[in-house]
Amino acid sequence: MNNTKEGNLQHAIKYSKLNTWQFNRGQQLLKLLNIKRGDTILDLGSGTGELTVKLSESVGLKGKVIAIEPDITRLELSKRNTLKGFDNIDFLSQKAEELDIISEESVDIVYSNYVIMWIEDHSGAFNCAKRYLKKNGLFAMELLLERIPFLSMVNGLTGDAGRQLEATFHGKSKDEWVKFFNEHGFQIEHLECPKLEFNFKNIEHFFDWLEGTSHGAFEVKLLDDKSLLELKKRYPKQVYFEGTGFQAIVKNIK
Ligand SMILES: C[S@@+](CC[C@H](N)C(=O)[O-])C[C@H]1O[C@@H](n2cnc3c(N)ncnc32)[C@H](O)[C@@H]1O
Repeated sequence: MNNTKEGNLQHAIKYSKLNTWQFNRGQQLLKLLNIKRGDTILDLGSGTGELTVKLSESVGLKGKVIAIEPDITRLELSKRNTLKGFDNIDFLSQKAEELDIISEESVDIVYSNYVIMWIEDHSGAFNCAKRYLKKNGLFAMELLLERIPFLSMVNGLTGDAGRQLEATFHGKSKDEWVKFFNEHGFQIEHLECPKLEFNFKNIEHFFDWLEGTSHGAFEVKLLDDKSLLELKKRYPKQVYFEGTGFQAIVKNIK
C-alpha cells in the first residue's frame, strides 16, 4: 500500500472526484433532517468535505459545522476546497471516539455518512457524540449494514491486504443497533435499511473508486494477472452490484 504523503494525496483526490455514490446517499440523509439556519452540526468523518459544504450551506453564516476527520490529507484537501465562502466550518483532525476539544452540549445535529462501520469502538464514538450533543439533539447516520459480497470477493483477490481491509469493517445487525441505541440513551426517530445500488461505467472506474474509498488499502496492482483478466472478462462494460445500508436518526434523550 502506498502510504507516502504523495500516495495519500492521490487517493484523497481520487475519493474527492469519484465519491458520487457516497455523496448521493449523504444528500438523501441530509434531506431527512430539518436543518435550521444557525444550527451547529458535527460532521463525523467528513472525508474530503463535499457533504460538509452542503451542511455549511444549510446552516448559513449564523450556524457552524465542525468537521472531524482523522486523515490529515483529506482534511487538508477539504480546507483547500473551502477557502472561499465557507467561514462557518471548523476542521479538526480527530477520531470520532477520541473527540475532546469542542464544548459539551453545544451541537444540534451529529451527521455521519458512511463512516461508522470503519470505527471499532462504537461505544466510544457514541458516548463522545452524546457528550457534545444538546439534550434532544439528533444523531443522523448512514452506513453499511453488512459487508458487500462483491467487495469482499474483490478484496479477497488481493491476499493479505484484502484480508486486513475486510477486518476493518465493524458491523452490527439491525437488532443489535436497536439494542445499542437503547443502551446508550438514544431514542429512535427514523430507521431504514435501504437497498444500495452501485453502478460504475467499467471495471477501471470501479477500481479507481475502491482505491480512493479504501485509502489505497485496495490497489489494483495487488491483483494477479489471472484475477485481473477474469474480472475484466466478467465485466466488459458496466459494473453493478448491490448491498444493504443502515440509515438511522436517533435522539439524545439522557
Ligand atoms: C467513506 S469515507 C466518508 C466520508 C464522507 N462522510 C462522505 O460521505 O463523503 C469514510 C471516512 O471516515 C473516516 N474515518 C475512519 N475512521 C474514523 C474515525 N475513527 N473517526 C472519524 N472518522 C473516521 C475516514 O478517514 C474517511 O474519510
